[in-house]
Amino acid sequence: MTKTEQSALIVGASRGLGLALAEEYVKRGWHVVATVRGQGTALHDFAAKHADALKIETVDIVEEDQVGALRQRLAGRTFDLLFVNAGVANDADETIGDVSTDEFVRVLVTNALSPMRVIERLGDLVAPTGSIGVMSSGLGSVTNNEHGGWEVYRSSKAALNTLMRSYAARHRKSQRAFVIIAPGWVRTDMGGPHASLEIDESIPRVVDTITAQAGKPGLKYLDYQGRTVPW
Ligand SMILES: NC(=O)c1ccc[n+]([C@@H]2O[C@H](COP(=O)([O-])OP(=O)(O)OC[C@H]3O[C@@H](n4cnc5c(N)ncnc54)[C@H](OP(=O)(O)O)[C@@H]3O)[C@@H](O)[C@H]2O)c1
Repeated sequence: MTKTEQSALIVGASRGLGLALAEEYVKRGWHVVATVRGQGTALHDFAAKHADALKIETVDIVEEDQVGALRQRLAGRTFDLLFVNAGVANDADETIGDVSTDEFVRVLVTNALSPMRVIERLGDLVAPTGSIGVMSSGLGSVTNNEHGGWEVYRSSKAALNTLMRSYAARHRKSQRAFVIIAPGWVRTDMGGPHASLEIDESIPRVVDTITAQAGKPGLKYLDYQGRTVPW
């Protein structure tokens, strides 16, 4: 890595939006460390062709010991961006009256507790004027919840947003930019075939949006077009 090259740590990049984020940052000349949980992913195929620019790490964000081990392996590194993309969805029609406790815990722990734990444990690897971001969703907006649906998933992303606000409040003297992203409804395994956007209609603009916040301290909740999303 040259001194001028910027670096990103992207957590949850085996496929879908996380893979596209890793690809986009490499395309823009960044050095990327991107994480997976398993072997033989699409990220491995991409990394084989971009070995100088992209390194793969392994972490399941739900496993606290794995997050700690990743922190140890990355000790001494500095990143301009830490972005936690990993997330799961559940059945959109499952109401809070239907959902099992185990399923509720799975979604909330994966989407709210675990991304924040990654930021708590790895945030000090980010340069003092670097950026820290999470992949939320427009469904995380409390204000915009006029039509219901996705009750459990919504609550997980609203919790993630609130936890990021608490983190930003606790780090209000930090010079880092904190960014919560709503990527739009995108055709991935999670978004499904009927989503309104292709990955390449969302992710390059997500990267533009994150880049535009670099060097601007404070927390923003922004969509893929850089527009503010109401809390
Ligand atoms: N697609 C959309 O329309 C949309 C809209 C709004 C927000 N989002 C958010 O965008 C993010 C990516 O979504 P996507 O559409 O790309 O979904 P996806 O295709 O289902 O990919 C999910 C990614 O998260 C990783 N992941 C899940 N649980 C993990 C864990 N415990 N530890 C580490 N990695 C984990 C997956 O890794 P494995 O391959 O190992 O499972 C995969 O890389 C999610 O946070 C999602 O909530 C998506």
